[in-house]
Amino acid sequence: MSHFADVAHLLRRAKNVVALVGAGVSVSCGIPDFRSAHGLYHSVAERFGLSDPQQIFCIDHFEDDPSMFFEFASQIMPQPHVRPSPTHRFLAELQSRRRLLRLYSQNIDGLEKRAGVSEQRTVLCHGSFLTATCTSRACKRRVKGTSIAPQVAAGLVPRCIKCQKNSDDDSGGVLKPDIVFFGEKLPNRVADCLETDIEKADLLLVFGTSLQVAPVSKIPAMFYGHVPSVLVNRELVAGHFDVELLGDCDDVVAALRAELGWHDRSAARYVDDARGAAGAATTNVAYHFVPPKRFLFANVGSEGARRDDPEDQNNSNESEDDGVTNASHTS
Ligand code: OAD
Repeated sequence: MSHFADVAHLLRRAKNVVALVGAGVSVSCGIPDFRSAHGLYHSVAERFGLSDPQQIFCIDHFEDDPSMFFEFASQIMPQPHVRPSPTHRFLAELQSRRRLLRLYSQNIDGLEKRAGVSEQRTVLCHGSFLTATCTSRACKRRVKGTSIAPQVAAGLVPRCIKCQKNSDDDSGGVLKPDIVFFGEKLPNRVADCLETDIEKADLLLVFGTSLQVAPVSKIPAMFYGHVPSVLVNRELVAGHFDVELLGDCDDVVAALRAELGWHDRSAARYVDDARGAAGAATTNVAYHFVPPKRFLFANVGSEGARRDDPEDQNNSNESEDDGVTNASHTS
């Protein structure tokens, strides 16, 4: 696939796109990703002096002491003023053009929904802040995320009022946002949707993820061979994609839309984006081809990757998880 037009053609003929996204699609909205040089894990490591910043999402650690997570949680809690990126809107456009079968998102910022992707089309693989559950085994009461938002914003540990009333020491169970921590199971909806989507899909698009967290990191391999697979990311990640579009996802999306001639619908919404990346759809987004399957966009070095080529690291990154529980490949 040596012409960008061929890549666009994959989209033109697709009727059942499966998209898998990670934190990179929200970076242009002002939300840092996790593992980039100035990502959230870098600031968490500095602030809390953690050698492994992923501990902040470790369920054992949370059960021992939830205060560290809640000191940090305001940074990842969805903020009402944040607007979706052009990539989020592109995913919503795929839906409105009846080409989106499913969006699997690892993100907990809710921006895909704000862009207009329906709940039915979305699988929130790592849960969300929409609800929270009391961690007391005797209680397990579920509350709306909005009811704990003020405490989370203030860096405080939210407590279950029902438990507080029943407990002698007035402490009450901790209300944990229903996001999936390391060591917790993914929602059943992930496996349920995959079971049918693997049969129906005709294209896999992967955007803005380092694919370092299992079991989500294993999703692309379920589609290889059945459908064409396209990676859109700033850097190379482990996998065997048919095409690699390396650059900022908003730029790549702009180039794809331009190639497809998709200027008619929602064009104004794209162009008014604060960063202006989608406006590039009407100009030209620079890229060049590196055989056999890589297109390099602006901001990516000529070698095409910011880390060493991860294909060499596949085996050492192999997860030992059970395929369901959230586990990191890096720890
Ligand atoms: P990462 O931070 O691991 O990876 C983000 C990827 O997006 C990196 O490969 C970046 O190079 C790339 N990227 C950043 N900005 C980009 C842009 N503008 N355009 C294109 N690519 C860009 O984030 P995830 O893979 O999403 O878990 O992380 C997976 C999980 O690890 C998260 O869901 C989170 C974390 O622990 C939980 O919250 C439970």
